[in-house]
Amino acid sequence: MSDTVSRRSVLRLLGGATAVALAATTGLPTPARAAAREAAGPRVESLLTRLTLDEKITLLHGAPDPKSLGQAGHVPGVERLGIPPLRLADGPAGVRVKQHATALPAPVLLAAAFDPGLARRYGRVIGHEGRALGQDVLLSPMVNLVRTPYAGRNFETFSEDPLLSADLVAEEIRGIQGEGLIATVKHYAMNNQEQDRETVDVRVDEQTLNEVELRAFEAAVGAGSRAVMGAYNKVNGTYACENEELLTGILRDRWGFQGWVMTDWHAAHSTVAALTAGLDMEMPNGKYFGAALKAAVRNGSVSEEYVDRAVRRILTAMDDFGLLDGSAPPRPARDAAAGAAVALEVAKAGATLLHNENGTLPLTGEAARSIAVVGPTGSLPFVSGGGSAHVVPDHADSPLDAIRSRAGDGSRVSYALGEDLFGKPLPKEALSAGIAPEAQRVAAGKTWTYDGTLTVEDDDEWTFVVHYSGARPKVLLDGVDLFPVATGLAEYFTGGLVSAAPDGLAVRRRTLDLAAGEHRIEITARGGAQGQTFRLRRVTGATRAQDVAEAVRAAGAAHSVVLFAYEDATENQDRTTLALPGHQAQLIEAVAAANPRTTVVLNTSSSTSMPWLERTAAVLQMYYPGQEGAAATAAVLFGDCDPGGRLTQSFPVDDDHHPVAGEPRRYPGVNGVEHYSEGIHVGYRWYDAKGVRPLFPFGYGLSYTSFAYGDLRVERTGDGLEVSFTVRNTGRRDGVDVPQVYVGPSPDLQADQAVRVLGGYQRLALKAGKSRRVIVRVDERTLSSWDPKRHGWVLGTGRRTVWVGASSGELRLSTRAGV
Ligand code: BGC
Repeated sequence: MSDTVSRRSVLRLLGGATAVALAATTGLPTPARAAAREAAGPRVESLLTRLTLDEKITLLHGAPDPKSLGQAGHVPGVERLGIPPLRLADGPAGVRVKQHATALPAPVLLAAAFDPGLARRYGRVIGHEGRALGQDVLLSPMVNLVRTPYAGRNFETFSEDPLLSADLVAEEIRGIQGEGLIATVKHYAMNNQEQDRETVDVRVDEQTLNEVELRAFEAAVGAGSRAVMGAYNKVNGTYACENEELLTGILRDRWGFQGWVMTDWHAAHSTVAALTAGLDMEMPNGKYFGAALKAAVRNGSVSEEYVDRAVRRILTAMDDFGLLDGSAPPRPARDAAAGAAVALEVAKAGATLLHNENGTLPLTGEAARSIAVVGPTGSLPFVSGGGSAHVVPDHADSPLDAIRSRAGDGSRVSYALGEDLFGKPLPKEALSAGIAPEAQRVAAGKTWTYDGTLTVEDDDEWTFVVHYSGARPKVLLDGVDLFPVATGLAEYFTGGLVSAAPDGLAVRRRTLDLAAGEHRIEITARGGAQGQTFRLRRVTGATRAQDVAEAVRAAGAAHSVVLFAYEDATENQDRTTLALPGHQAQLIEAVAAANPRTTVVLNTSSSTSMPWLERTAAVLQMYYPGQEGAAATAAVLFGDCDPGGRLTQSFPVDDDHHPVAGEPRRYPGVNGVEHYSEGIHVGYRWYDAKGVRPLFPFGYGLSYTSFAYGDLRVERTGDGLEVSFTVRNTGRRDGVDVPQVYVGPSPDLQADQAVRVLGGYQRLALKAGKSRRVIVRVDERTLSSWDPKRHGWVLGTGRRTVWVGASSGELRLSTRAGV
């Protein structure tokens, strides 16, 4: 290793391309070569002597799968030598293949349970199903920190806190790999936003990098993750997938990573630079690691030893999972019932109650017998977010059905749409030819056209909604293409729930202001090879007013209201506002005015601003609750279980008061460069440092009962601090609490330090009136800062404040203790 380190220092001194060229052609340093062979084992070494260069290269990149099961990636094996192909499937909330699988709650909901043991069981479900569904590698978990509230994948990851993320990822990986599926921690590193994710250059200092984003990746490696996925973005000027500091300096030399590194999909940018920096596999194709790599070896630009190194890493992991000698256990059958049970448990455990006036929840008595359910996602189950985390669920009930069945016979549960996502048919009389393009079926090879006028009675906002199978029909309104095909991934990633109609047709929307009068409308729909079904619908200000009026009527006629509000996130897109999409805020205001006993259930990806909060009686955050989400939501609403979730990210008051507000250089970046200038002050650390009050702080969440904390003691142990205190359930109901320990800065360190950091936490269930002594251990890593001068951790000694709180904003006990 020392030899490797010194080689890297030489590389740094030489700098840039010359260094890469020198290293690439001279091959691996001798001790590194010997150590790698020893770690690989005789089976892998023997295979390496028998594989041809072409065969080796086959193992280093993805290729189409002739027997695809619908998974994201495939690497052909080498049949001649008994090396099987690898199938690689997403993702974070369940196994994403063509077939049905358990759609687990989104990772953010799992994280809200603050329960690493539950994360292990979540991992086990995915591990078991991945094997059962013909997969070898899982492209998950994702651990990039929640750094900006706008990031489109905040639901796929865990938290803004490095310790919590680290605890959860480690246990989830143990769960996945314990079932025989190789886990891939992603996206290494600094993929904290979707905007410009493929190009943005993240500039981050060494202390921030180590203390904030990398902790969870290190924990994943420590838990034995055998694969790492490199991120799209650049880190300090170099693409993550060819960043030697990340891929070799930190991952291998410092953390001792034993597996292989693959790219995110199409995230490779070079052949020799990437391979020598430490990338092992290109996905999903071989643009750089296919013919180009062979040519580079043949013409001497890179030594074949680098190819061997990458092959060795992949085969060693496969061998350890019994994939080379047939010793892997036979693929199990799916256990859908076990998956569903964990999905339900996680959704209940992570349910986070944000607001509850006068004991509005749980619903009991008349409030539980006379309910108006409002909102499109009340009747349509919001199972998961969009993008690669989307899973085909075994089944999914609507919250309305779950509420009806829980409320039972003799109760009155009405429903009103309130906000129309999929539109109403165009009125026949508004179209000149009198043909409503509703449910048109165009036969294969045929074309359907319409050229006429649309008569609009009043000036109004119109949202046109096209539903279609096959190729998208072209709709021109006054010559403007309403649904142009976007370029690249933007066309592919369009959301989860709202991008498909309940019957499965794809959906696109376009909103514009239309003046009263006649508008020319031209539609061309082509049947293609399969035939096509399409319908063109609309939502206007007028139809919206009717929907709201109906919701208000239903709310007024019921004792209590449960209003489902949504926000549909997907990868490849960030949100542009923290407000709920569409006109949901107005719907909430109108319904709450009609019935003050209004509970809002949020199926949102991450934080949401809530200007309507004080008008409502209760707010329950359910995120994307998976296939059992409806049952879990009903169980929490009716008080069958306590809402045991706590926020794993701070919720800002509005778009102007959060860590990246008004700082374009910080987010989303300027001219392709982004500076993590908040430094280590991510999430609640920023709110504490700036004295800004969030709407809801990190760690916040209400219970249906109340808890008191007392008798705090802190002892210095050999490996950190042991913090003990008593938790008492002071209410009349059994409940779940998550007391949290926070630690203040060390007086002895020069380094920038947070006002306080999460030191540990404990989820516990307590019966009414009972108390329990809780012990939380704060490890030395949490008590340390990264010293950029020494390139290492320094323990923050001296007397430090230790708090116990119900959230980062509600610190109830404190003392000082020596470290
Ligand atoms: C995502 C990855 C995912 C991959 C394969 C990429 O677009 O960023 O998280 O694993 O696709 O589906």
